[in-house]
Amino acid sequence: MKTLIKDGTVVSASDSFVADVWIDGDKIVGMTHPSARATMPVGPDVTQIDAKGQYVIPGGIDCHTHMSLPFGGTTASDDFDTGTVAAAHGGTTTIVDFAIQSKGSSMRAGLDAWHAKAEGKAAIDYGFHMIMTEANPQTLAEMADMVREGVTSFKMFMAYPGVFLVDDQQIFRAMLRAGELGALITMHAEIGLPIDVLVQRALSEGHTAPVYHALTRPEVAEATGTERAIALAEMAKVPVYMVHLSAQRALARVMEARDRGLPTYAETCPQYLFLTEDHLRGEPGNEWKGAGYVATPPLRPKHHHDHLWRGLQNYDLQVVATDHCPFCMKDQKELGRGDFSKIPNGMPGVETRLHLLWEGVTMGKISMNRFVEITSTAPAKIFGMYGKKGTLAIGADADVVVWDPKKSKRLDQANLHMNVDYSPYEGHTVPGSPSHVLSRGEVVVKDDVWVAKAKQGRGQFLRRGTFGL
Ligand code: URP
Ligand code: ZN
Ligand code: ZN
Repeated sequence: MKTLIKDGTVVSASDSFVADVWIDGDKIVGMTHPSARATMPVGPDVTQIDAKGQYVIPGGIDCHTHMSLPFGGTTASDDFDTGTVAAAHGGTTTIVDFAIQSKGSSMRAGLDAWHAKAEGKAAIDYGFHMIMTEANPQTLAEMADMVREGVTSFKMFMAYPGVFLVDDQQIFRAMLRAGELGALITMHAEIGLPIDVLVQRALSEGHTAPVYHALTRPEVAEATGTERAIALAEMAKVPVYMVHLSAQRALARVMEARDRGLPTYAETCPQYLFLTEDHLRGEPGNEWKGAGYVATPPLRPKHHHDHLWRGLQNYDLQVVATDHCPFCMKDQKELGRGDFSKIPNGMPGVETRLHLLWEGVTMGKISMNRFVEITSTAPAKIFGMYGKKGTLAIGADADVVVWDPKKSKRLDQANLHMNVDYSPYEGHTVPGSPSHVLSRGEVVVKDDVWVAKAKQGRGQFLRRGTFGL
Protein backbone atom coordinates (compact mmCIF):
# COMPACT_ATOMS: atom_id res chain seq x y z
CA MET A 1 0.00 0.00 0.00
CA LYS A 2 1.53 3.29 -1.15
CA THR A 3 0.26 6.72 -0.25
CA LEU A 4 1.27 10.23 -1.24
CA ILE A 5 0.18 13.12 0.95
CA LYS A 6 0.74 16.02 -1.38
CA ASP A 7 1.10 19.79 -1.14
CA GLY A 8 0.57 19.99 2.62
CA THR A 9 2.59 22.04 5.08
CA VAL A 10 4.62 19.61 7.13
CA VAL A 11 4.95 20.81 10.70
CA SER A 12 7.55 19.29 12.97
CA ALA A 13 8.71 20.31 16.43
CA SER A 14 11.24 22.61 14.77
CA ASP A 15 10.20 23.42 11.19
CA SER A 16 7.27 24.10 8.90
CA PHE A 17 7.65 23.57 5.14
CA VAL A 18 5.56 22.61 2.14
CA ALA A 19 6.33 19.04 1.11
CA ASP A 20 4.97 15.81 -0.25
CA VAL A 21 5.12 12.88 2.16
CA TRP A 22 5.59 9.46 0.56
CA ILE A 23 4.47 6.36 2.40
CA ASP A 24 5.13 2.75 1.50
CA GLY A 25 3.50 0.12 3.66
CA ASP A 26 3.66 1.24 7.26
CA LYS A 27 6.64 3.60 6.91
CA ILE A 28 7.43 7.08 5.66
CA VAL A 29 9.84 6.57 2.78
CA GLY A 30 10.32 10.05 1.40
CA MET A 31 9.72 13.74 1.68
CA THR A 32 10.13 15.94 -1.37
CA HIS A 33 9.25 19.42 -2.56
CA PRO A 34 6.03 19.33 -4.65
CA SER A 35 7.99 20.54 -7.68
CA ALA A 36 9.83 17.22 -7.67
CA ARG A 37 6.64 15.48 -8.79
CA ALA A 38 7.39 16.78 -12.29
CA THR A 39 10.24 14.28 -12.44
CA MET A 40 8.69 11.62 -10.21
CA PRO A 41 5.49 10.41 -11.82
CA VAL A 42 2.96 9.04 -9.38
CA GLY A 43 2.00 5.49 -10.28
CA PRO A 44 -1.59 4.22 -10.36
CA ASP A 45 -0.86 2.11 -7.29
CA VAL A 46 -0.38 5.22 -5.15
CA THR A 47 -3.33 6.59 -3.16
CA GLN A 48 -3.16 10.38 -3.21
CA ILE A 49 -4.30 12.64 -0.40
CA ASP A 50 -4.56 16.30 -1.29
CA ALA A 51 -3.32 18.25 1.74
CA LYS A 52 -3.12 21.70 0.14
CA GLY A 53 -3.93 24.34 2.73
CA GLN A 54 -3.66 21.76 5.52
CA TYR A 55 -0.98 20.84 8.04
CA VAL A 56 0.72 17.46 8.03
CA ILE A 57 1.83 16.49 11.52
CA PRO A 58 3.02 13.39 13.37
CA GLY A 59 0.20 11.44 14.98
CA GLY A 60 -0.50 12.47 18.54
CA ILE A 61 0.96 10.45 21.40
CA ASP A 62 -1.07 10.41 24.59
CA CYS A 63 1.27 9.06 27.24
CA HIS A 64 -1.29 9.08 30.06
CA THR A 65 -4.47 7.03 29.65
CA HIS A 66 -6.44 4.62 31.84
CA MET A 67 -8.49 2.27 29.67
CA SER A 68 -10.70 -0.09 31.70
CA LEU A 69 -9.12 1.10 34.94
CA PRO A 70 -10.81 -0.42 38.00
CA PHE A 71 -11.07 2.58 40.32
CA GLY A 72 -13.39 4.03 42.93
CA GLY A 73 -15.62 0.94 43.01
CA THR A 74 -16.20 0.88 39.25
CA THR A 75 -14.25 0.64 35.99
CA ALA A 76 -13.30 3.42 33.57
CA SER A 77 -15.90 3.33 30.84
CA ASP A 78 -13.58 3.27 27.81
CA ASP A 79 -11.81 0.03 27.07
CA PHE A 80 -8.96 -0.44 24.60
CA ASP A 81 -11.47 -0.72 21.77
CA THR A 82 -13.66 2.34 22.32
CA GLY A 83 -10.86 4.43 23.83
CA THR A 84 -8.38 3.91 21.01
CA VAL A 85 -11.00 4.44 18.30
CA ALA A 86 -11.92 7.72 20.00
CA ALA A 87 -8.24 8.65 20.26
CA ALA A 88 -7.78 8.14 16.52
CA HIS A 89 -10.78 10.35 15.72
CA GLY A 90 -9.01 13.10 17.62
CA GLY A 91 -5.67 12.62 15.84
CA THR A 92 -3.92 10.50 18.46
CA THR A 93 -2.28 7.40 17.01
CA THR A 94 -0.39 6.08 20.04
CA ILE A 95 -1.31 5.77 23.69
CA VAL A 96 0.71 4.72 26.71
CA ASP A 97 -1.66 3.25 29.28
CA PHE A 98 -1.05 2.38 32.92
CA ALA A 99 -0.92 -1.30 33.87
CA ILE A 100 -1.25 -1.96 37.60
CA GLN A 101 0.78 -4.06 39.97
CA SER A 102 -1.87 -4.66 42.63
CA LYS A 103 -0.82 -4.76 46.27
CA GLY A 104 0.20 -8.31 47.22
CA SER A 105 0.50 -9.32 43.59
CA SER A 106 3.35 -9.32 41.06
CA MET A 107 4.13 -6.96 38.22
CA ARG A 108 4.06 -9.97 35.92
CA ALA A 109 0.40 -10.55 36.79
CA GLY A 110 -0.36 -6.85 36.32
CA LEU A 111 1.33 -6.66 32.94
CA ASP A 112 -0.28 -9.88 31.72
CA ALA A 113 -3.68 -8.54 32.75
CA TRP A 114 -3.13 -5.33 30.77
CA HIS A 115 -1.90 -7.21 27.71
CA ALA A 116 -5.10 -9.25 27.89
CA LYS A 117 -7.19 -6.06 28.08
CA ALA A 118 -5.48 -4.52 25.04
CA GLU A 119 -4.67 -7.40 22.72
CA GLY A 120 -7.27 -7.94 20.03
CA LYS A 121 -9.00 -4.70 21.06
CA ALA A 122 -6.73 -1.72 20.51
CA ALA A 123 -7.24 0.05 17.20
CA ILE A 124 -3.99 2.06 17.39
CA ASP A 125 -0.56 1.28 18.80
CA TYR A 126 -0.13 1.22 22.54
CA GLY A 127 2.50 0.87 25.22
CA PHE A 128 2.32 0.45 28.96
CA HIS A 129 3.73 2.12 32.03
CA MET A 130 3.55 0.06 35.22
CA ILE A 131 1.90 1.43 38.35
CA MET A 132 3.98 0.20 41.30
CA THR A 133 2.00 -0.12 44.50
CA GLU A 134 4.85 -1.82 46.39
CA ALA A 135 8.60 -1.59 46.05
CA ASN A 136 9.64 -4.80 47.78
CA PRO A 137 12.51 -7.17 46.83
CA GLN A 138 10.25 -9.06 44.42
CA THR A 139 8.87 -6.04 42.59
CA LEU A 140 12.27 -4.31 42.51
CA ALA A 141 13.67 -7.44 40.84
CA GLU A 142 10.73 -7.58 38.45
CA MET A 143 11.43 -4.05 37.23
CA ALA A 144 14.24 -5.54 35.11
CA ASP A 145 11.79 -7.92 33.40
CA MET A 146 9.44 -5.06 32.67
CA VAL A 147 12.19 -2.95 31.12
CA ARG A 148 13.35 -5.91 29.01
CA GLU A 149 9.78 -6.25 27.76
CA GLY A 150 9.53 -2.60 26.78
CA VAL A 151 7.71 -1.28 29.83
CA THR A 152 10.35 1.26 30.71
CA SER A 153 8.50 3.66 32.99
CA PHE A 154 6.80 3.24 36.34
CA LYS A 155 4.23 5.36 38.12
CA MET A 156 4.22 5.78 41.88
CA PHE A 157 1.63 7.57 43.98
CA MET A 158 1.94 9.82 47.01
CA ALA A 159 -1.89 9.99 46.92
CA TYR A 160 -4.76 7.53 47.46
CA PRO A 161 -3.85 5.98 50.87
CA GLY A 162 -4.73 2.30 51.07
CA VAL A 163 -5.04 2.00 47.29
CA PHE A 164 -1.95 3.21 45.46
CA LEU A 165 0.04 5.27 48.01
CA VAL A 166 3.65 4.23 48.62
CA ASP A 167 5.98 5.75 51.22
CA ASP A 168 9.14 7.73 50.52
CA GLN A 169 11.44 4.80 51.25
CA GLN A 170 9.72 2.67 48.63
CA ILE A 171 9.76 5.52 46.13
CA PHE A 172 13.46 6.03 46.80
CA ARG A 173 14.26 2.33 46.38
CA ALA A 174 12.34 2.24 43.10
CA MET A 175 14.15 5.35 41.90
CA LEU A 176 17.57 3.80 42.65
CA ARG A 177 16.55 0.66 40.78
CA ALA A 178 15.17 2.70 37.87
CA GLY A 179 18.54 4.47 37.70
CA GLU A 180 20.32 1.11 37.35
CA LEU A 181 17.92 0.00 34.60
CA GLY A 182 17.59 3.22 32.61
CA ALA A 183 13.90 3.37 33.50
CA LEU A 184 11.89 6.46 34.38
CA ILE A 185 9.85 7.00 37.54
CA THR A 186 6.72 9.09 37.04
CA MET A 187 5.03 10.57 40.08
CA HIS A 188 1.52 11.40 41.22
CA ALA A 189 2.71 14.00 43.66
CA GLU A 190 -0.17 14.99 45.91
CA ILE A 191 0.42 14.13 49.57
CA GLY A 192 -2.54 11.88 50.22
CA LEU A 193 -2.42 11.34 53.99
CA PRO A 194 -3.21 14.93 55.06
CA ILE A 195 -5.63 15.21 52.13
CA ASP A 196 -7.56 12.29 53.61
CA VAL A 197 -7.85 14.17 56.92
CA LEU A 198 -9.26 17.21 55.11
CA VAL A 199 -11.74 14.95 53.30
CA GLN A 200 -12.90 13.33 56.56
CA ARG A 201 -13.26 16.74 58.22
CA ALA A 202 -15.28 18.15 55.31
CA LEU A 203 -17.62 15.16 55.35
CA SER A 204 -18.07 15.33 59.12
CA GLU A 205 -19.06 19.00 58.70
CA GLY A 206 -21.73 17.94 56.21
CA HIS A 207 -19.93 19.10 53.06
CA THR A 208 -20.80 16.50 50.45
CA ALA A 209 -20.94 18.39 47.12
CA PRO A 210 -18.47 17.73 44.26
CA VAL A 211 -16.66 21.06 44.76
CA TYR A 212 -15.28 19.74 48.06
CA HIS A 213 -13.08 17.44 45.98
CA ALA A 214 -11.11 20.56 45.06
CA LEU A 215 -11.38 22.28 48.42
CA THR A 216 -9.86 19.29 50.23
CA ARG A 217 -6.95 18.87 47.80
CA PRO A 218 -5.23 22.26 48.00
CA GLU A 219 -2.47 23.39 45.70
CA VAL A 220 0.07 23.16 48.54
CA ALA A 221 -0.51 19.40 48.76
CA GLU A 222 0.61 19.05 45.15
CA ALA A 223 3.48 21.52 45.50
CA THR A 224 4.81 19.70 48.57
CA GLY A 225 4.57 16.31 46.89
CA THR A 226 6.31 17.71 43.83
CA GLU A 227 9.14 19.11 45.93
CA ARG A 228 9.50 15.82 47.80
CA ALA A 229 9.54 13.73 44.63
CA ILE A 230 12.19 16.00 43.13
CA ALA A 231 14.28 15.77 46.33
CA LEU A 232 14.10 11.97 46.29
CA ALA A 233 15.11 11.90 42.62
CA GLU A 234 17.98 14.28 43.32
CA MET A 235 19.21 12.01 46.13
CA ALA A 236 18.91 8.97 43.86
CA LYS A 237 20.56 10.91 41.01
CA VAL A 238 17.83 9.95 38.55
CA PRO A 239 15.38 11.81 36.32
CA VAL A 240 11.78 12.14 37.44
CA TYR A 241 8.59 12.93 35.51
CA MET A 242 5.63 14.59 37.20
CA VAL A 243 2.30 13.43 35.79
CA HIS A 244 -0.80 15.64 35.48
CA LEU A 245 0.71 18.79 37.01
CA SER A 246 -2.14 21.19 37.69
CA ALA A 247 -0.98 24.16 39.72
CA GLN A 248 1.30 27.18 39.80
CA ARG A 249 3.18 26.26 42.97
CA ALA A 250 3.88 22.72 41.78
CA LEU A 251 5.19 24.18 38.53
CA ALA A 252 7.40 26.57 40.51
CA ARG A 253 9.02 23.55 42.22
CA VAL A 254 9.69 21.99 38.81
CA MET A 255 11.15 25.27 37.52
CA GLU A 256 13.48 25.57 40.52
CA ALA A 257 14.70 22.03 39.95
CA ARG A 258 15.26 22.57 36.23
CA ASP A 259 17.05 25.86 36.94
CA ARG A 260 19.41 23.84 39.15
CA GLY A 261 20.06 21.55 36.19
CA LEU A 262 18.12 18.57 37.52
CA PRO A 263 16.51 16.24 34.94
CA THR A 264 12.98 17.03 36.08
CA TYR A 265 10.16 16.70 33.55
CA ALA A 266 6.46 17.41 33.82
CA GLU A 267 3.22 17.04 31.91
CA THR A 268 0.00 18.92 32.26
CA CYS A 269 -3.41 18.08 30.78
CA PRO A 270 -5.98 20.07 28.77
CA GLN A 271 -8.40 20.15 31.70
CA TYR A 272 -5.89 22.21 33.70
CA LEU A 273 -5.48 24.63 30.78
CA PHE A 274 -9.16 25.09 29.88
CA LEU A 275 -11.37 24.24 32.88
CA THR A 276 -11.51 25.69 36.37
CA GLU A 277 -12.59 24.89 39.91
CA ASP A 278 -15.86 26.68 39.07
CA HIS A 279 -16.82 23.75 36.85
CA LEU A 280 -16.78 21.62 40.00
CA ARG A 281 -19.40 23.91 41.51
CA GLY A 282 -21.92 22.73 38.90
CA GLU A 283 -24.80 25.03 38.06
CA PRO A 284 -27.25 26.98 40.23
CA GLY A 285 -29.75 24.37 41.34
CA ASN A 286 -27.59 21.55 39.98
CA GLU A 287 -24.36 21.40 41.91
CA TRP A 288 -24.20 17.66 41.15
CA LYS A 289 -23.17 18.52 37.57
CA GLY A 290 -19.74 19.25 39.06
CA ALA A 291 -19.23 15.49 39.52
CA GLY A 292 -18.34 15.28 35.82
CA TYR A 293 -15.33 17.45 36.56
CA VAL A 294 -13.94 15.42 39.47
CA ALA A 295 -10.41 14.39 38.54
CA THR A 296 -7.24 14.27 40.58
CA PRO A 297 -5.44 16.63 41.05
CA PRO A 298 -8.54 18.81 41.01
CA LEU A 299 -9.33 21.61 38.60
CA ARG A 300 -7.82 24.84 39.92
CA PRO A 301 -8.90 28.51 39.96
CA LYS A 302 -8.50 30.28 36.61
CA HIS A 303 -5.27 32.13 37.32
CA HIS A 304 -3.35 28.83 37.13
CA HIS A 305 -4.04 28.66 33.39
CA ASP A 306 -1.64 31.49 32.60
CA HIS A 307 1.15 29.87 34.61
CA LEU A 308 0.69 26.52 32.90
CA TRP A 309 0.60 28.04 29.42
CA ARG A 310 3.77 29.96 30.29
CA GLY A 311 5.30 26.70 31.51
CA LEU A 312 4.60 25.18 28.11
CA GLN A 313 5.96 28.23 26.30
CA ASN A 314 9.17 28.24 28.37
CA TYR A 315 9.83 24.48 28.21
CA ASP A 316 9.33 24.04 31.96
CA LEU A 317 6.44 21.73 31.04
CA GLN A 318 7.35 19.27 28.31
CA VAL A 319 4.19 17.32 27.55
CA VAL A 320 0.41 17.65 27.41
CA ALA A 321 -1.23 14.25 28.00
CA THR A 322 -4.84 13.63 28.98
CA ASP A 323 -5.09 11.36 32.05
CA HIS A 324 -8.09 9.98 30.15
CA CYS A 325 -10.12 8.13 32.78
CA PRO A 326 -13.82 8.47 31.95
CA PHE A 327 -16.74 7.53 34.15
CA CYS A 328 -20.37 7.98 33.11
CA MET A 329 -22.56 10.34 35.12
CA LYS A 330 -25.19 7.60 35.27
CA ASP A 331 -24.34 4.70 37.57
CA GLN A 332 -20.65 5.65 37.91
CA LYS A 333 -20.19 9.26 39.07
CA GLU A 334 -23.49 8.66 40.86
CA LEU A 335 -21.67 6.45 43.34
CA GLY A 336 -20.63 9.70 44.98
CA ARG A 337 -24.01 11.40 45.30
CA GLY A 338 -24.11 12.48 48.92
CA ASP A 339 -20.36 11.91 49.43
CA PHE A 340 -17.92 13.67 47.09
CA SER A 341 -15.10 11.32 48.17
CA LYS A 342 -16.92 8.41 46.53
CA ILE A 343 -17.17 10.08 43.10
CA PRO A 344 -14.87 8.05 40.84
CA ASN A 345 -11.92 10.30 39.98
CA GLY A 346 -11.30 10.95 36.32
CA MET A 347 -12.47 12.68 33.17
CA PRO A 348 -12.67 11.85 29.46
CA GLY A 349 -10.12 13.53 27.19
CA VAL A 350 -8.26 11.20 24.83
CA GLU A 351 -10.26 12.43 21.81
CA THR A 352 -10.23 16.17 22.48
CA ARG A 353 -6.58 16.89 23.37
CA LEU A 354 -5.36 17.95 19.94
CA HIS A 355 -8.49 19.97 19.28
CA LEU A 356 -8.10 21.94 22.50
CA LEU A 357 -4.39 22.52 22.06
CA TRP A 358 -4.92 23.64 18.50
CA GLU A 359 -7.26 26.20 19.94
CA GLY A 360 -4.26 27.20 22.06
CA VAL A 361 -2.35 27.74 18.80
CA THR A 362 -5.11 29.94 17.39
CA MET A 363 -5.23 31.87 20.68
CA GLY A 364 -1.52 32.61 20.27
CA LYS A 365 -0.55 30.61 23.37
CA ILE A 366 1.83 28.25 21.55
CA SER A 367 3.28 27.93 18.05
CA MET A 368 2.31 25.12 15.69
CA ASN A 369 5.77 23.64 16.19
CA ARG A 370 5.39 23.67 19.96
CA PHE A 371 1.94 22.08 19.50
CA VAL A 372 3.59 19.18 17.67
CA GLU A 373 6.34 18.97 20.25
CA ILE A 374 4.14 18.76 23.35
CA THR A 375 1.56 16.42 21.81
CA SER A 376 3.88 14.02 20.01
CA THR A 377 7.63 14.61 19.77
CA ALA A 378 8.43 15.20 23.44
CA PRO A 379 6.45 12.24 24.79
CA ALA A 380 8.12 10.05 22.14
CA LYS A 381 11.55 11.21 23.30
CA ILE A 382 10.87 10.99 27.03
CA PHE A 383 9.21 7.58 26.83
CA GLY A 384 11.56 5.78 24.46
CA MET A 385 9.59 5.84 21.19
CA TYR A 386 11.33 8.56 19.22
CA GLY A 387 12.34 7.77 15.66
CA LYS A 388 9.57 5.20 15.28
CA LYS A 389 6.93 7.59 16.66
CA GLY A 390 6.76 11.32 17.29
CA THR A 391 8.30 12.54 14.05
CA LEU A 392 7.70 12.65 10.31
CA ALA A 393 11.01 11.26 9.10
CA ILE A 394 12.17 8.72 6.59
CA GLY A 395 11.93 5.31 8.23
CA ALA A 396 9.48 6.42 10.91
CA ASP A 397 6.08 4.76 11.32
CA ALA A 398 3.61 6.50 9.03
CA ASP A 399 1.45 7.77 11.87
CA VAL A 400 0.33 10.98 10.25
CA VAL A 401 -2.45 13.48 10.79
CA VAL A 402 -3.61 15.84 8.06
CA TRP A 403 -4.98 18.70 10.10
CA ASP A 404 -7.46 21.01 8.39
CA PRO A 405 -7.42 24.46 10.02
CA LYS A 406 -10.58 25.42 8.09
CA LYS A 407 -12.68 22.76 9.79
CA SER A 408 -14.14 23.27 13.23
CA LYS A 409 -15.69 20.97 15.78
CA ARG A 410 -18.19 21.35 18.56
CA LEU A 411 -16.96 19.19 21.43
CA ASP A 412 -20.39 17.85 22.39
CA GLN A 413 -20.80 14.32 23.67
CA ALA A 414 -22.97 13.58 20.61
CA ASN A 415 -20.07 14.50 18.28
CA LEU A 416 -17.45 12.45 20.10
CA HIS A 417 -16.64 8.75 20.22
CA MET A 418 -15.55 8.20 23.82
CA ASN A 419 -17.76 5.75 25.68
CA VAL A 420 -19.08 8.22 28.22
CA ASP A 421 -22.42 9.96 28.66
CA TYR A 422 -21.23 13.57 28.88
CA SER A 423 -18.61 15.94 27.54
CA PRO A 424 -16.76 18.36 29.84
CA TYR A 425 -16.68 20.75 26.86
CA GLU A 426 -20.36 20.56 25.83
CA GLY A 427 -21.23 23.56 23.64
CA HIS A 428 -17.60 24.53 23.08
CA THR A 429 -16.60 24.86 19.41
CA VAL A 430 -12.93 24.66 18.53
CA PRO A 431 -11.21 25.56 15.27
CA GLY A 432 -9.42 22.86 13.27
CA SER A 433 -9.95 19.12 12.91
CA PRO A 434 -8.21 16.22 11.20
CA SER A 435 -9.26 15.44 7.63
CA HIS A 436 -7.18 12.22 7.60
CA VAL A 437 -5.60 10.18 10.36
CA LEU A 438 -3.11 7.50 9.33
CA SER A 439 -1.90 4.78 11.62
CA ARG A 440 1.13 2.87 10.30
CA GLY A 441 0.36 3.94 6.73
CA GLU A 442 -3.35 3.13 6.75
CA VAL A 443 -5.99 5.85 6.70
CA VAL A 444 -8.07 4.93 9.74
CA VAL A 445 -10.20 8.07 10.05
CA LYS A 446 -11.34 10.31 7.22
CA ASP A 447 -13.48 13.37 7.92
CA ASP A 448 -14.39 12.02 11.34
CA VAL A 449 -15.46 8.61 10.01
CA TRP A 450 -13.65 5.34 10.72
CA VAL A 451 -12.64 4.00 7.29
CA ALA A 452 -10.02 1.32 7.94
CA LYS A 453 -11.22 -2.21 7.27
CA ALA A 454 -9.98 -3.50 10.59
CA LYS A 455 -10.62 -1.83 13.91
CA GLN A 456 -10.28 -3.91 17.05
CA GLY A 457 -6.88 -5.54 17.23
CA ARG A 458 -5.13 -3.60 14.48
CA GLY A 459 -3.11 -1.72 17.14
CA GLN A 460 0.25 -3.21 18.10
CA PHE A 461 2.04 -3.31 21.43
CA LEU A 462 5.03 -0.98 21.50
CA ARG A 463 8.17 -2.15 23.25
CA ARG A 464 9.62 1.14 24.36
CA GLY A 465 13.30 1.93 24.80
CA THR A 466 14.96 3.08 28.01
CA PHE A 467 15.21 6.70 29.04
CA GLY A 468 17.62 8.34 26.64
CA LEU A 469 17.54 12.09 27.13
O1 URP B 1 -8.56 11.48 38.45
C1 URP B 1 -7.68 10.79 37.96
N1 URP B 1 -6.58 11.36 37.62
N2 URP B 1 -7.87 9.47 37.78
C2 URP B 1 -6.92 8.55 37.31
C3 URP B 1 -5.90 8.14 38.32
C4 URP B 1 -4.73 9.09 38.38
O2 URP B 1 -4.42 9.56 39.46
O3 URP B 1 -4.07 9.32 37.38
ZN1 ZN C 1 -2.39 10.17 39.06
ZN1 ZN D 1 -3.78 9.09 35.59
